[in-house]
Amino acid sequence: MARIDIDFLVLGSGIAGLTYALKAAKFGSVAIITKKKDIESNTNYAQGGIASVFGKDDTFDLHVEDTLASGKGLNKREAVEIMVGEGPERINELTDFGAQFTLQQNSKIFDLGMEGGHSRKRIVHAKDYTGNEIERNLIKTARNNHNIEIYENHCAIDLITEHQVGQKNFSKSTHCYGCYVFDTLHDEIHVFAAKVTFLATGGAGQVYLHTTNPGIATGDGLAMANRAGAVLANLEFMQFHPTTLYHPDASSFLISEAVRGAGAVLRDEMGEQFMQKYDKREELAPRDIVARAIDAELKKSGNECVYLDLSPIGAKNIPQKFPQIYNKCLEYKIDITKELIPVVPAAHYMCGGVVADYSGQTSVVNLLACGEVAHTGVHGANRLASNSLLEALVFSHRAAIVSTGSIKSIAQPPDAIPPWDDSGTLNADEWVLLRHDRQEIRKLMWDYVGIVRSNFRLGRAKRRIKMIFQEVEEFYRKTTITEGLVELRNLATVALLIVRCASMRKESRGLHFTTDYPLSDDTHYLRDTFIQQKVQDLNFVMNINN
Ligand code: FAD
Ligand code: SIN
Repeated sequence: MARIDIDFLVLGSGIAGLTYALKAAKFGSVAIITKKKDIESNTNYAQGGIASVFGKDDTFDLHVEDTLASGKGLNKREAVEIMVGEGPERINELTDFGAQFTLQQNSKIFDLGMEGGHSRKRIVHAKDYTGNEIERNLIKTARNNHNIEIYENHCAIDLITEHQVGQKNFSKSTHCYGCYVFDTLHDEIHVFAAKVTFLATGGAGQVYLHTTNPGIATGDGLAMANRAGAVLANLEFMQFHPTTLYHPDASSFLISEAVRGAGAVLRDEMGEQFMQKYDKREELAPRDIVARAIDAELKKSGNECVYLDLSPIGAKNIPQKFPQIYNKCLEYKIDITKELIPVVPAAHYMCGGVVADYSGQTSVVNLLACGEVAHTGVHGANRLASNSLLEALVFSHRAAIVSTGSIKSIAQPPDAIPPWDDSGTLNADEWVLLRHDRQEIRKLMWDYVGIVRSNFRLGRAKRRIKMIFQEVEEFYRKTTITEGLVELRNLATVALLIVRCASMRKESRGLHFTTDYPLSDDTHYLRDTFIQQKVQDLNFVMNINN
């Protein structure tokens, strides 16, 4: 066990964490903690691109209005204006870091793609592997920076606040002093003590059985922030991506919305198009509408999937425009230049998160949050396609400017931070039960807290997940730490928090649709859903009957 002191502790090595780290490193020492290899992140799998105003026929106002229309009244206009207005400068900076985006033929102008909910072509992309292009270049730059140390295979367990230090908290605010971190290769838990802790642990797609997200996306940052006393908001707004490959071995591989932006259409098993029945924008309606339309078609027909027809793109253009999707489908013996792609929706993006201001500051002093883990107010009740890389980029930059400016005035974390206490814990032999718990949570969330919800389904999910949560907490107290146990505890926490937020919103809006309240109710619910208590203190969790 060691104590490592640094100025800036960055939890997560996706676009948010790396952007912040590269900027903070000019002002002090930076440690980046990341669960697996540094590249493994949601960022690395982003396909479609980053939305930003570069087109001649486009304006900031149009991008702002499209974002607000998608968010159904819950976006903070100021946050949206900041993101949209600062976007082009930040994207140009990515090219300075080495990212090569697709250009129009024989020109230096970005080839802009189209996606659902956008009124103009504005998706900057690197073919269909935009995220990997960004991630590789940010990591390369970070690795060459002598002020940045990257700790791979290190899993953040819990934020350190007055509570762990045993300090009496006389001020009203909680302070963050760093994090307990589990080195999974050496089975050791270290104290990373930092003046500023930057939470950039990404999303929570793994809470659902079917998700586009990689295995790292277990909502750890949301759960840690909740345990540290930070305010969270709007977790009911989990975005389901309408089109992921339906194949028993493909684990929800994404078929980018850019494919529909280029002309692909959805068809049922009879080969009929159906989107015209649901929205006049058809395949390019916002995601909540397309995902619900597919869900309705599947419920009506009893079929397992619908189909994407890429023939309008032109067979010879497909491999060149969408090489990743083309090759991945070929691995599953589907030639998308000739055949339809079977698709289903899957959990994709968490629109809510840890409440953060426009410089990333959360309700816990010296704890910042940016990227998918954060709630800035940009997305409202439904994120517009390709706005999340942009949000992460813009707000991480702003967080770096503000927090590096004040770093000299922040006190060193206390000497008295205790090492991790694992006294009384034992290696357990019940790991198979934990695996079952993880699967059960994911299935409950998929079945009862998915695209279409109801009071009955939410109640059922709550009762069952609550029981699992209580068992896991009990097990956690007695058992030596493993990464699987940390993740399971976080998954159970986040699942309960999502159910809690969904139960509080007694209306339908954006991504939250419930059959008991199928309409929006602006009089009572044109507002965010806040979680201010730790999950174990919520009456909702403690009282088995409510
Ligand atoms: P991430 O990139 O997910 O990074 C999180 C980091 O935190 C990872 O390094 C992870 O290992 C680490 N971490 C997590 N928990 C811990 C822990 N306990 N300890 C240590 N480290 C931890 N958005 C767009 O705008 N355009 C797109 O085209 C697009 N396509 C997408 C395609 C797919 C398949 C997916 C999954 C998402 C897509 N998104 C897209 C969403 C977007 O990629 C993410 O919202 C964004 O990349 C999030 O960035 P981030 O830095 O916040 O988190
Ligand atoms: C996609 O390529 O369809 C994903 C875009 C996004 O999530 O914004």
